[in-house]
Amino acid sequence: MTAQLIDGNALSRQLRADVSARVAALKAKGITPGLAVILVGDNPASQVYVRNKVKACEDTGMHSVLERWPATLSENELLARVDALNRDASIHGILVQLPLPAHIDAQKVIEAISPAKDVDGFHIASAGALMTGMPGFWPCTPYGCMKMLESVGYQLKGKHAVVIGRSNIVGKPMALMLLQQNATVTICHSGTRDLKAMTLQADVIVAAVGKRNVLTADMVKPGAVVLDVGMNRNDEGKLCGDVDFDGVKEVAGWISPVPGGVGPMTITMLMVNTLESAERLVA
Ligand code: GUN
Repeated sequence: MTAQLIDGNALSRQLRADVSARVAALKAKGITPGLAVILVGDNPASQVYVRNKVKACEDTGMHSVLERWPATLSENELLARVDALNRDASIHGILVQLPLPAHIDAQKVIEAISPAKDVDGFHIASAGALMTGMPGFWPCTPYGCMKMLESVGYQLKGKHAVVIGRSNIVGKPMALMLLQQNATVTICHSGTRDLKAMTLQADVIVAAVGKRNVLTADMVKPGAVVLDVGMNRNDEGKLCGDVDFDGVKEVAGWISPVPGGVGPMTITMLMVNTLESAERLVA
């Protein structure tokens, strides 16, 4: 193995210790940061995610509320819950777990969240703030990737970063964050004609497609930094990312594993965003 590991668990522990200390300082001023998580339906993966989010709140000393609603909840009922949480002074962050049942317009629900409590960073006001370099909440997964690069002292200025995937949650905000740090950024997607020709030029590759083995060793320039955002299952049912880890680790300079890479960082950055939402009240 040539690559050094970017350990998302270890970095999360460090960052969550800092969050815990800042939560304690805020509590001393009479403010307990609070996160509300809304889960509609019984998607098994979503249930695991929301449980981990609530546990992270408990571990860092934050207040949390988990609202579970049946899949039959109407869009109007959900909008009414979001409205109530917008007005609830004990809540500084609101997260509606996605995906939502098909009869609910997810974008409409996201736009109903107050941008001041949009700790997921999915509201168009948050997206616009990121695009223009204004203060606002950054989506947690790409934000976590930026922290991982920072943690190894990686200087992005002038480097070529290739993002594979163009989702609103990861690919597009990731590209904007890398651009803000003066990288030259290429976004690749299902319509990209020659993905390998692109990735071979990359100093940094972020794989965020949701498909196994999107990135293999022959597609990576020696020494490149590889961040794996994927969450898939292999044939044995084991968690794996989008990157062929065993092959790519022999070529890359740095690599994040799955599990133990980007995943824990996503929840850590949710804690950071919720804390910072509460900190704005005393700033
Ligand atoms: N579903 C999968 N990832 C996420 C996330 O980061 N936030 C929300 N709200 N739903 C998700």
